[in-house]
Amino acid sequence: MHDPKPINAAKDIFWIGVNDRDTDLFEGVWPLPRGVSYNSYLILDEKVALLDTVKAKSAIPFEQQVLKLTGGRHLDYLIINHMEPDHAGSIPAIMKAFPGVKLVGNAKTAKFIEEFFSFTPDMLIVTDGDTLDLGRHKLSFALVPMVHWPETMVTYDATDKVLFSMDAFGGFSALEGGIFDDEVDLEYYEDEALRYYANIVGRHSQMVQRAFQKLAGFDIKCIAPTHGPVWRKDPGVIMKLYDRWSRQIPEQGIVLAYGTMYGNTERMMEAVARGITETGFSKVRIHDVSRSHASYILRDAWRYKGLILGAPSYDTMLFPPMEHLVNLLEIKKLANRVLGAFGSAGWSGGAVSRILKFGENNKLEIIGPSVEAKFAPKPADIEACRQLGRTVAERIMACPDCAR
Ligand SMILES: Cc1cc2nc3c(=O)[nH]c(=O)nc-3n(C[C@H](O)[C@H](O)[C@H](O)COP(=O)(O)O)c2cc1C
Ligand SMILES: [Fe+2]
Ligand SMILES: [Fe+2]
Repeated sequence: MHDPKPINAAKDIFWIGVNDRDTDLFEGVWPLPRGVSYNSYLILDEKVALLDTVKAKSAIPFEQQVLKLTGGRHLDYLIINHMEPDHAGSIPAIMKAFPGVKLVGNAKTAKFIEEFFSFTPDMLIVTDGDTLDLGRHKLSFALVPMVHWPETMVTYDATDKVLFSMDAFGGFSALEGGIFDDEVDLEYYEDEALRYYANIVGRHSQMVQRAFQKLAGFDIKCIAPTHGPVWRKDPGVIMKLYDRWSRQIPEQGIVLAYGTMYGNTERMMEAVARGITETGFSKVRIHDVSRSHASYILRDAWRYKGLILGAPSYDTMLFPPMEHLVNLLEIKKLANRVLGAFGSAGWSGGAVSRILKFGENNKLEIIGPSVEAKFAPKPADIEACRQLGRTVAERIMACPDCAR
């Protein structure tokens, strides 16, 4: 647990973070090999306001931090930007520690509180453009529905130009010492922000774009999200990335994901990889779907323009670990990608047609040849796989709309 740290020059807005290093899977699905942070913020003004809380398992140390910082003062407001339990879990603890604290949220927040905690909150209900005067700090609210829950909202401090953005612009990983963008290994945190984006927010990219339109009027000097580093040096970095990710503008590169039981599809994959590199293009990320967690494959698929998927047929369908990936890519609404497909089948087939169906569903640009070998790939199949790799690589190298 870090000590609270002021995030503004006036030293009256504090980051109060909790590193969670023992939850293995975020939301029970997404691996957290280096943990995750839950960030909360306290504004000590004429009125005292807390923005979001932390997961219930950390309620006791969190509450102690808030009590220590407030130093006997009353907590006037608890602003709830998001009700997911990794942030809302300690609301009851804070209400108990500060009887009479006024909860602030939108109409949907109130409904969720009732359903989560079985009480009807006496809340200050806010909507777009509403303001809350803390003294020096003048807060305003913007509803950003479905980024990535119905009640999601952000709070903007017009005084110090800080955007309290809840999960938006946040990422996985505990804060490993530093908490600001100028104190951390940015390359690593950008990777983890992309993994968070692809896994959790990506499906709602259109709503992220709508949120951007709403934020256009705010002069943002600092972004304070509920996970990962605080962006005080250059919030434009993460805003630009978010804009690109939510417009589905990928980089030049190819994700080659495959599954195999007995090695036939693996041999085909090697030929595809060879075909790609024969063109001189080397930005390839190979994933074995049975071994790489889908969370990482989704991240890479969100980053790169090219996606080539290969797997055997299994019980008339697609090999289950690949079906899991394809299903996730469909749910997350991955778009604007080039897709290639290959696989091996013994009799009925089913794998390649399912991959191609995914491409149609997501309106991807399907590039051939699609290759389905009967059991062991024959020389013609291997040649077709090389051709597939070459064709996709050539398409990616000539990608006018890719990010650079
Ligand atoms: C449990 C199991 C189920 C299978 N189901 C099908 C199927 O429904 N249709 C089909 O065409 N082939 C089916 N096959 C055959 C495989 O697709 C074929 O053996 C393929 O070459 C395996 O590729 P791999 O060596 O990459 O694992 C099945 C194989 C196994 C082991
Ligand atoms: Fe969330
Ligand atoms: Fe969260």
